[in-house]
Formats: sequence, C-alpha cells, structure tokens
Amino acid sequence: MNVVPRDLMTEIAVTSADFRGAMRHLTGGVSVITAGRGKDITGMTVTSVASLSVEPPTLIVSINRDASSFPLIRRHGAFGVNILAADQLDVAERFAGKGGLKGVDRFAGARWVTAVSGVPLLVGALSAVDCEVEEIVERHSHGIVIGRVRDVRNSTRNAALAYWHGQYVAVDQDEDAARLADVSVPTHLRRGI
Ligand SMILES: Cc1cc2nc3c(=O)[nH]c(=O)nc-3n(C[C@H](O)[C@H](O)[C@H](O)COP(=O)(O)O)c2cc1C
Repeated sequence: MNVVPRDLMTEIAVTSADFRGAMRHLTGGVSVITAGRGKDITGMTVTSVASLSVEPPTLIVSINRDASSFPLIRRHGAFGVNILAADQLDVAERFAGKGGLKGVDRFAGARWVTAVSGVPLLVGALSAVDCEVEEIVERHSHGIVIGRVRDVRNSTRNAALAYWHGQYVAVDQDEDAARLADVSVPTHLRRGI
C-alpha cells in the first residue's frame, strides 16, 4: 500500500547547512546518467543511484527537475546509468558541468556505444545499465526516477570512483580490500585469509 504524501506539520528546525553537513558523510558511488538520442543528448554526474529491487531489476535515481537531463528522460522514457571507474574523473567533471560544457559536447573525449533504448553508454565504465522509465515521482526540487533495467554491460574492472566530503576518491579493490579486511577482522580471529 502506498503512503499518501501529506504536508508535514512539524516545524522545520534543520538548516540546509546542517543537512548538507550530514550528507557530506555519506560516501557515494559516482555515476553518469545519460539521456536522449542521436545529437539530442545530454547527461549528468550523480551519486543518488540506488538499487530498488532485483526481481524485477529496478533502480532509482534522484534528478533535479531543472537539470537538462530531466526533460529528455521524461520525453524518451529511457536513461543510461554509467558507473564510473576511478580513472574516469574527467568524465565526472565534464558531466557535472565543469568547463561550462552542455549537451552533446560533454560526450567528447570518451568512447560511447548506443544502447537498445537509444541512450549512449560509456565504454570502460565499471557497469553500464540501460533503463526504461517505469515511473517518475516528482517531489520538491527533484524527481525520483524509477528505471526498469533492460540491459547491463558489466566490466571486470575493479577500481571505482566515489565522492565523499566534497571530493572525489578512488576505491580500489586490489589496494583497499586487504586494508579493509585488516580493519574489519581482528588479526587474532583471521585464519587462512
Ligand atoms: C559528485 C556529484 C554528484 C551529484 N549528484 C547529483 C544527483 O544525484 N542528482 C542531481 O540532480 N544532481 C547531482 N549533481 C549535480 C549535477 O551533476 C549537475 O547539476 C549537472 O551538471 C546539472 O546538469 P545540467 O547542467 O545539464 O543542468 C551532482 C554533482 C556532483 C559533482
């Protein structure tokens, strides 16, 4: 059963600075959302991608309704999710609007293939996911876009690009996994690892 949205009566005491401060602690995997067809394409860098369900395969992403990708996603009913590798920082910056590039110009400098739905997918991404829009829930400044996964291109690459405390960080499975295991499993409990 869906919960009906309502106007909350509680007085808001949280400042946007406090809220942003809280969200800075949340480490986010960096993806580029792609939208449109042919020359009428654009895209944007996001950290708000999350899995919704496995059966059926669906994901959600939260997109600002003023972003240039939003009307294209709505019009075409499709979008791509390109999960970035650590060495794709330049792509992340271009699609976040650095350098003032817009639309198709953001795609220069990287290789793309066209998905079944028509959206561009990034060659060399950790994973590239082709989604059909199932529903868009518009709330406040953003739209929560629910995507039904139509196709997945997985790579065997294993160094991801993340965003934490206002900066990009690399998460490398080979370099970081051993260190993380050291932290999570006390040495005296480790047997045969
Ligand atoms: C690391 C990072 C994560 C971002 N995550 C989101 C997000 O989840 N949703 C969103 O609407 N904008 C997000 N943005 C902002 C958009 O990338 C940026 O506003 C985008 O360039 C807007 O596109 P436009 O210039 O085509 O309108 C993020 C930016 C950065 C740098």
